Formats: sequence, structure tokens, C-alpha cells
Amino acid sequence: MASATNIQRRRFLGQSTFGLAAFASFPNILSAMGDMQGFPKEAPNKASANFKADVEFDLFCSLGSVAILPGQQTKVQHYSAVLKTGPKDTLIDIPGSYLGPLINLHKGQKVRINLHNQLPEPSVTHWHGLHVPANMDGHPQYAILPGAVLVYEFEVLNRAGMNIYHPHAHEATATQVYNGLAGALFVRDEEEAALELPSSAYELPIVIQDRRFDQQNQLVYASNRHDHMVGYYGDQILVNGKPNFQIDVESRAYRLRVLNGSNARIYKLAWDDGTPITVIGVDGGLLEQPDVKPYVMLAPGERLDVWADFSGRNVGAQLVLRSLGFSGVLPKMAERMGGMMMHANKLPVGSDFSIFTAHVTKKVSDSPKLPSKLSTIARHALSDTANPNNPLPIAISESPMAMLLNGKAYAFNDPLPTERIKLNSIQLMEIFHDHGAGGHGGGMGMGGMKHGGGMGMMMSMAHPIHLHGQQFQIVSRSINANHAEDYATVRDGFIDSGLKDTVLVMPGETVRIIKPFQDFTGLFMYHCHNLEHEDMGMMREFLIYDKV
Ligand code: C2O
Ligand code: CU
Ligand code: CU
Repeated sequence: MASATNIQRRRFLGQSTFGLAAFASFPNILSAMGDMQGFPKEAPNKASANFKADVEFDLFCSLGSVAILPGQQTKVQHYSAVLKTGPKDTLIDIPGSYLGPLINLHKGQKVRINLHNQLPEPSVTHWHGLHVPANMDGHPQYAILPGAVLVYEFEVLNRAGMNIYHPHAHEATATQVYNGLAGALFVRDEEEAALELPSSAYELPIVIQDRRFDQQNQLVYASNRHDHMVGYYGDQILVNGKPNFQIDVESRAYRLRVLNGSNARIYKLAWDDGTPITVIGVDGGLLEQPDVKPYVMLAPGERLDVWADFSGRNVGAQLVLRSLGFSGVLPKMAERMGGMMMHANKLPVGSDFSIFTAHVTKKVSDSPKLPSKLSTIARHALSDTANPNNPLPIAISESPMAMLLNGKAYAFNDPLPTERIKLNSIQLMEIFHDHGAGGHGGGMGMGGMKHGGGMGMMMSMAHPIHLHGQQFQIVSRSINANHAEDYATVRDGFIDSGLKDTVLVMPGETVRIIKPFQDFTGLFMYHCHNLEHEDMGMMREFLIYDKV
């Protein structure tokens, strides 16, 4: 592997004058990496007799076809589920959608999920956002073969919030999610219930994804190296699995549970009439108080809890949620080559387009009021961290060869010293772009390329960095002056006051976070949630240890 990378690096340096055009001609190293996973072989986990489940369901991942566009049905991979024990509203299907059922869990419940792999390939499911033991977290080492069953058992420790379930199979997350395997998982708790927020018909999931279809309505996926390097972008927006999504609403407040389920696309969400967006929660649940924003950035894997109040609007009124224009997400090189490298995508990255339309169809006189206090967040101070002056690094490096974290591609159970973390510690961490001169960022420091500018700046792009396990706090963001102009197009759209598990790190940006590592030992992944990047190896693990 090391030598293959070196050969490719040399080839890159030889061809670098051709810039990104050279990407397409590189051999696909993804397939070469396919059999170096080195996961230990173990029989899939079985149900344990002494785990008394409050909730139990069978979750199937299988092949199917659904009507997405008019005409021919689209072949998909999808989740479905059957409840065995527990409250009836534990599973709610989204009619006619390839998305998995909405899963509703309560804090404190003991949950058993029997995952049945009915796909013709290995798979495993991860509960993105949930704090569960390492062997229940959907690590790729636990992927099961076609026909096999994997039993998950865990207690819901999370506070109320919106989470995601999706596959995490080795180098197959992006394709399986793209083909339709994903769903929303809500945790409910008493703090949330006491607020009496809009519920049932007034609480709506909004899962935003982008896809490309061929003439026969079949999904089209990444075909070249460039699609993996920048991430794969559809040219059609789907909400809850449907194109041209519309909702009928009453003139009252709604709670929109928004999830960016796209592989790579980042959205800049705003109402089309200039109404600010009222945000009441993010990845890790409710904010302490509502945050009102002109627009909100939402990267893959991130969630948003939106208070959408249609009070005072007349029947016939409509409000469109759009993604507004912004810049800086793609490498400058790619942005310059624009249409050509994006295969003239009808929906260029950072362009302005509509996501869904809400039509007011009924006037009502009463509406719940937005609470001014939403929740209490148990925060950690810098002085609670094990390393207040010495943040653990999460270094992002990009090159046409590889997308890396801490200078390394994914390798199973291969923690660096800074990736070994003592159980029950709280850590200060710093996520930053490393275009350093040492060449450890994939050789970009060579040939006179300078930190922060030049080649580093030309290659730098936005990455939604996701850490498994407990939610973290965002402590600070800082931006390199070279990127200030692009950054100005997104900077008012970050909500850093809540708990997060995924944070968008823009080019030139450094983000500091505080994250607890409590309760469970073992290997927990962290990775870019641009799923093409993840599958290229932009993923590492933290080893949480108790005694050495
Ligand atoms: Cu949503 Cu490791 O993933
Ligand atoms: Cu996750
Ligand atoms: Cu990335």
C-alpha cells in the first residue's frame, strides 16, 4: 500500500501541471485497498438471555424498487422493520419511500435490534449519534455476510434528539447509503416532553438527499476518481425520498426535524421570503434557547430541529425552503474547472435551488408558543479537560492521492499515540487543515507549496468531521485570512451552542471541541462524513482504554 501510494504520488507530481484534469486518469486505488482491512473474524453477536429488552425489532436491509420519478420504478437498497416488543409508535414507515422507518426510542429503554442482511454484499448498521458500546456501534469489523443476522443490544443513554441509522461497511458506506439505506432515529426524553413542542402531525421529518438518475430512472453513482475526491453530487433533490417535495400545513407552528442524508452535498438553508430560520436543536438535541439565523449550513450527517411557524399566513400562502448560494466548499482548482469536472451538474455545489415548498391549506386560530428556555446542557469547561493546553489533533490533509486524517488513511486498530484516550476523560481536540511543509499531508508541502496558500489552498475543501460516541461542544472556530472571502458566504450559518457529533470544517478553518469519552472502552471511529471521503480512507479510530 505504501509503495502504491508513493508511485501515485510521484505520478501526481509529474502531472501536476494538468491540475485536476489528471484525477480522472488515476487508477482507482479504492479497489486496491479492498482486501487490506485485516478485521478479526468473529461470529456475529447473538441475543443474550440476561438482557431484558423493552423494545425489540427486526431490521432488514434488502434490495427493492420504489417509485421515485414518474414512470419506471428505481432499484434501491433499503431498510424495513418489524416490531416484536415495545410501544406501537416505535416504528413509523414513511409511505412510498426508500428511507427506513422512523425509529422512536425513549431514554432509558433497553433495545434489541436484530439486523438481517438480505443484501448480496456485507453490511452493518451504525446508530449515528447514539452513545453505545463499541461492539454495538456498527463498526465495519462487525459487518455480516449476506443471509446473516447481527443482534444489537444497548440501553438508550442519549438525551432527546434526532439520530441517523445507516450502513458502515468497509469502503461501502457511500454506495449503500446512496442506494437508499438510511433512516432517522429519534430519542425522546422527559425534558423534551415537558416543553409540549409540536408533535405527531405537526412534527415532520425532512431528510434531504441528492441523487442522479439515468434515462430509465435508475440511480447513477460516481464513475471516476474526481467524483470520489470532491464527493459525489446528485442533480436532483429528494426530501424523504421524493422529488419536488411539498407539504400542506396549517397556519400554526411546526417542528421540522431536518437531516442532511446526502453523501457529499452541503446546504445553506433559508426561507425564500427572508424569514429567518428559528433553530431549537442540532445533532445532540435541544439548544438551551432558540437561535434565530438568516440561514443555516447543514453538512452531511448534521441535523437541525427547526421551529417553523406559519401563524398569520393565509390559506394559499407558500413558503419555500431553499439552499442559497455560497462558495469555498470545493477545492479552488475544482471550482475553477467548474462545469467540466462536475460533468455539467445541473445543480452545481453552492448554487441556489429549492428544497421543498410548504403550502398553507388551513387557517387555524391557535398555535403553540415557542418556549424561550428549551433545555439545560451539561457543559464541560476547559479546566475539566485532561489537556487544556495541548489539544489532541485531528489534522485534515488533502491531495489528489488521498484524503487523510492525522496523516494516515484508515487502518483497523492502528491508533497513533494521540488516538489513544483514557476512559472517562474529557478531551480538548483541534480539527485543522494540515498542508504542512513536512510532506506528511500527502506531499502537498513539496515543490515550494506554502502552508495556507498556494497548492494547499488550491486543494483545500470543506469536510464534515464526525466523531462516534458522545456528543461534543464546539469551543471555537478560527479562519485563515486567505479564505476569509469564501468564509463570509457561510459564517453566519453555524450553530455552535448545542451538542454536536458532526462539525463542518471549512477550508482554512480550525475548530476546537471538547468531547467526553465516558462509559465504554474500545475502538470508536471518527471520519469525514463526506461519504466518498470516508470510503477513501478519511477515517481513523480512537482507542478508548481503561487499563493498559
Ligand atoms: Cu454517520 Cu461513522 O457515521
Ligand atoms: Cu456515527
Ligand atoms: Cu472530507
